[in-house]
Amino acid sequence: MESSDFLVVGSGIAGLIYALDVAAFGTVTVLCKSDPTEGSTRYAQGGIASVTSPLDSFEAHIEDTLDAGAGLCHREIVEILVREGPERIRQLISLGTRFDRDLGSNQYQLGQEGGHSVRRILHAGDATGAEIQRAVFEHAAKHPNIRILANQVVIDLITAADAGGRREVLGAYSLQTDTGEVRTYRARCTMLATGGAGKVYLYTSNPDVATGDGIAMAYRAGAAVANMEFFQFHPTCLYHPEAKSFLITEAMRGEGAMLLTQDGKPFMQAYDSRGELAPRDIVARAIDDQMKRSGDKFVLLDISHRDPEFIRSRFPTICERVQQFGFDLTSEPLPVVPAAHYCCGGVVSDEFGKTTLHRLYTAGETAFTGVHGANRLASNSLLEALVFASRAARHSIEHLPQYATVPPVREWDSLDTVKSSEEVLVTHTWEEVRRMMWNLVGIVRSDKRLHLAERRLQIITEEIRDYYWHFRVTKDLVELRNITQVAALIIACGLRRKESRGLHFNVDYPQRDDEHWRKDTILTKDGG
Ligand code: FAD
Ligand code: SIN
Repeated sequence: MESSDFLVVGSGIAGLIYALDVAAFGTVTVLCKSDPTEGSTRYAQGGIASVTSPLDSFEAHIEDTLDAGAGLCHREIVEILVREGPERIRQLISLGTRFDRDLGSNQYQLGQEGGHSVRRILHAGDATGAEIQRAVFEHAAKHPNIRILANQVVIDLITAADAGGRREVLGAYSLQTDTGEVRTYRARCTMLATGGAGKVYLYTSNPDVATGDGIAMAYRAGAAVANMEFFQFHPTCLYHPEAKSFLITEAMRGEGAMLLTQDGKPFMQAYDSRGELAPRDIVARAIDDQMKRSGDKFVLLDISHRDPEFIRSRFPTICERVQQFGFDLTSEPLPVVPAAHYCCGGVVSDEFGKTTLHRLYTAGETAFTGVHGANRLASNSLLEALVFASRAARHSIEHLPQYATVPPVREWDSLDTVKSSEEVLVTHTWEEVRRMMWNLVGIVRSDKRLHLAERRLQIITEEIRDYYWHFRVTKDLVELRNITQVAALIIACGLRRKESRGLHFNVDYPQRDDEHWRKDTILTKDGG
């Protein structure tokens, strides 16, 4: 058994900012699944939205966020996000993050993305996330109070009831993937920052670690989870069998890239007067609609009318990556399709990242803060992770005396389990869940498809439960159990909402219904 003051699950922007902020007040253990720099943060392209220009205002950023969120954002939380944003950006810069500046004026260059009424996206070329991850990781790795442990797959949270009967989290069990050993980590409080869940879908912009582990674990432990029906599909991922849905940043549309049918016709104006810069849900549905009408497998994204030098300097990573697949961004359009990108729902947390379980915090893509409503505004997620991880750190420090005594916890018990010789069943079921979610619970849904998916998933869940209790845990099994859990939550939330709003579009209820459904969909294991 290992003990520390703070346990952090996840080493992306949310986990590491929390770790850095609490480290002066106690020992911190950070657990992460593979390499500590691997996660969605590292792949963020467009940038981070925040009000830094005199031509911008807090009100405008707040209004753009509320507008994209289609009536479900929590205004007071959005206000915190926007107003505390600039201070957190300064923190990132003080940690060594280098955002692009204009050569002449030395002012930060600001990008434009869908749903933003002005340019407000700070960026580092088209590899902003890699630059942020580098800076925060370098600091965290050097901090004497922070221990970052790689190749750790946290399986479950350790829970107990405190003296007053309140459910609390005392740490976590984690599988060390290189030895197969399960270790017990005990802590005074725990931060869950495991990122998103794109791997629930067959096609996703997300890295392999994004299997919704934190959401699944928190739900199993009894925490409230909300708004899982709002899964964001990014409109433009490269269509190529070997590209693994490589993202083509929305910032490209901000610089004038057009969406075209395969025979070269622009179509976005027919769906929204903001055209290519409409919020993401609208653009993804428009592409889906165009592909269904034409039977085509992709649409085109074209920026070749801009100066080749500009394209190469503004989007160097994308230029290089698409070249590997035989495309020249400066002279031809790219084939693109939507892919699962961002989980707007998550573990319910308050304005300090506190979940409904005592001693458990959450931040980043795992959390549901109320910022995103029914559709996240582009480049608001890195900001959300920063602002609320930092607030959670402040709250943890202030409440450390309350968390002082940690009751004893039980070690992991794997005595009755054996090593499985049927690993192929796990791989097969992985594929089955992801394909089913893509086909039945994608951009356009219906009650019939949701019910079909629900029934199929119930059987799969039983099979996994059986497997889980008899065989020794592996990384694949842990992740399969989690994607299945998250899929079930997406379906359950989708079935509850009898309207279409933001990212949830159900052909049986095509209209938005504010009278009955202007509310969050909140689920707990105990049936709340
Ligand atoms: P992550 O950075 O994903 O980190 C998750 C961490 O949790 C990892 O360390 C992982 O190993 C660990 N982990 C997961 N499960 C376990 C487990 N069971 N046990 C132990 N560790 C675990 N947002 C923007 O605002 N702007 C952008 O330009 C932008 N571009 C994007 C481009 C791409 C391709 C993608 C995929 C996302 C993009 N996003 C963008 C979204 C944004 O990057 C993410 O929402 C954000 O980085 C999430 O940060 P995080 O700290 O919550 O999680
Ligand atoms: C992008 O660069 O298009 C992704 C931005 C985001 O997900 O916020």
